[in-house]
Amino acid sequence: MAESQISIHYAPQDPLERIHATLQRHGLRFDALSRDDIAAFDEFHIGGRAQTRALAERARIDPETRVLDLGAGIGGPARTLAEEYRCRVTAVDLTEAFCRINALLNAQLGFGDRIDCLCADAVKLPFRAGSFDLVWFQHLTGNIADLAAVFAEVRRVLRSDGRMVFHEAVRGETSELHYPVFWAGAADHDNLVTAARLEAEIERAGLVPEFRIDTTEESRQLFRSALATPRAERPLLGLSVLVPDALVKAKNMLRNLESGALEVIQAGYRIG
Ligand SMILES: C[S@@+](CC[C@H](N)C(=O)[O-])C[C@H]1O[C@@H](n2cnc3c(N)ncnc32)[C@H](O)[C@@H]1O
Repeated sequence: MAESQISIHYAPQDPLERIHATLQRHGLRFDALSRDDIAAFDEFHIGGRAQTRALAERARIDPETRVLDLGAGIGGPARTLAEEYRCRVTAVDLTEAFCRINALLNAQLGFGDRIDCLCADAVKLPFRAGSFDLVWFQHLTGNIADLAAVFAEVRRVLRSDGRMVFHEAVRGETSELHYPVFWAGAADHDNLVTAARLEAEIERAGLVPEFRIDTTEESRQLFRSALATPRAERPLLGLSVLVPDALVKAKNMLRNLESGALEVIQAGYRIG
């Protein structure tokens, strides 16, 4: 997807205004929000904070790990890693409006000294070779037309003993996807590939697999249960605070997961 299309997709109106308007409706103040208040929308991937924690455990992160989060969104995962694993995180995203919100939330929630926030494209990273121990991404590749360029950059910015972990939706081998979904409004803006293609691109860049977990069934259950939850019991500040048409997209996600058009994996690699 072209750079401008990505920002238009994720931030068609100013998402900060959207957040303020929702908070106002509920009588809440932006400067009084806690991490828990925003957990249902600042972790913008299947399974939210629980899946960030699961991937972090698999990634063996400790306070010395220098992490690069690619496609960091508004920064929920970076804050979870910085708070719970005490590591330093550099959060990069292409959508400027998301980077601004990320920086605001970091300052307000006390993460200014542990998270650096940058607006940049994953295909051309503004870092020196060997800057990071771990590259991390969640639900990024559906927006990436040139996977080879991204993984060449990942390899370049990693130290020689560096690792990469991800949590990604991938295209199933059988049915057609139904749109809109969270990363694309229509098929012509969708770059999602199959797991086999993703893994081949990664290995071509010189990374070798360490682990791979299929979380498709768990993801199906999560959508089934979220969509079956009565409105009054859903989180006050859900994903619709950030994402236009979140309910329609969530229903399509479940439909795609049930038809086999969509699968979800977590995986880890190291430099070969
Ligand atoms: C579905 S969101 C996931 C956000 C975050 N990883 C999370 O889990 O909360 C995908 C994010 O990838 C970002 N993105 C898409 N293409 C990108 C690129 N080429 N470089 C950097 N970020 C990109 C989008 O702006 C968006 O914030």
